[in-house]
Amino acid sequence: MKILVVGGGAREHAIVAKLRESTIGAVDDIYCAPGNAGIAKHARLVPIAASNTVELADFAQTIKADLTIVGPELPLMLGIVDEFKKRGLRIFGPTRSAAEIEGSKAFAREFLTRHHVPSPRYAICGSFDEAERILTEGELGLPCVVKADGLTAGKGALICETLEEAVAAAASLLQGKRFGKAGERVVIEEFIPGEEVSFMVLCDGTRAIPLASVQDHKRLKDGDKGPNTGGMGAVSPALNLKLEIHKEIMSTIIIPTIAGLSKEGRPFSGVLYAGLMIGADGKPKVLEFNARFGDPECQVILARLKSDLASLLVAVADGALADVKVEWAKEPAVCVVVASEGYPENTIKGREIRRLPDAEEGLQILHGATTLDGQKLMTTGGRVLAVTALGASLPQALNRAYAAVGQIELEGSQYRRDIGASALRRLGVA
Ligand code: GLY
Repeated sequence: MKILVVGGGAREHAIVAKLRESTIGAVDDIYCAPGNAGIAKHARLVPIAASNTVELADFAQTIKADLTIVGPELPLMLGIVDEFKKRGLRIFGPTRSAAEIEGSKAFAREFLTRHHVPSPRYAICGSFDEAERILTEGELGLPCVVKADGLTAGKGALICETLEEAVAAAASLLQGKRFGKAGERVVIEEFIPGEEVSFMVLCDGTRAIPLASVQDHKRLKDGDKGPNTGGMGAVSPALNLKLEIHKEIMSTIIIPTIAGLSKEGRPFSGVLYAGLMIGADGKPKVLEFNARFGDPECQVILARLKSDLASLLVAVADGALADVKVEWAKEPAVCVVVASEGYPENTIKGREIRRLPDAEEGLQILHGATTLDGQKLMTTGGRVLAVTALGASLPQALNRAYAAVGQIELEGSQYRRDIGASALRRLGVA
């Protein structure tokens, strides 16, 4: 089987590395466009940007790819799946219209309201005057969240403690064009305190199979402080996800969403990812939907996946998830993201990574934003490395990951020291 993976971050590195383990799927050749220096060890890099959907389809046709796997959201919103399907090429991911559940926060909020899916209260604003009026009237309370409507690589949700901060956030999006076109509309939402859970399912249009549970760590700094990021670390399983809540999420959130998308002529195929908040009342509410694997959630999920990844994704793409079972390792997995100085707002790129630990059984040093300059390994973006470890217990997995992170030499690098801390508290270990 020939597989093309689209994307160039640590999520795609995890996918490519897992495909390399494939035995049942008989994976012969793996290509990755555009990939990165770490991915180059497992796949042939193809110098086509993930946003160049037509050239990617041409390439897949030329090599006769049996399957294309789309990692990031941008190509999905640019219609890569529609382009491939038009040409009869097999691809894993949702069509553009289904991916809109991630691509437009305003669409998602209105869709969830139409289908009675539990969500925070919200208002959609197309002008600063409207946003200022809604904020000043104060119906959504404080703190509140001001979100850009479009794609912003996880940086577009601004949590505001005061009215002044909220008005300034709305001004920066609607007047200052902080996220360009993505911020031409904003969604203002009530803030739901609680613990976040990333809940992902494989979906073939009608059926859904839940993936292993994960807790992401979205804020930049320890203690959930600082700005939102794409994700600074993850732990699987999510110990805050009890069986009853799992059932409730499936029945009140996932199943109505999949049915609603189908009913509205946007059947969803791929990974449907609900970013949820479990409030003090134990009830889950939808913070956002994504139309792809989370990053770094994918890294810990795949570390625990025992089933054959290629066969699973083919089953999704072919609409054949009936009777598919997914097996997971019992061992927990953790991921600690090492980011560049200045990430997420003023990322400093182009620095040399002077020292990297070696990968070993159960420890992966996944590359998120790297390139080779001769013999030098250089950074190319914000989330540079994702150190992912399995362990017999959560403390062992964390010790292993942090021991490896401690060996990395990258000037100005930042990482959270408290990944998994709330899970450890639940276990009574911290
Ligand atoms: N880690 C959050 C995301 O992938 O959107």
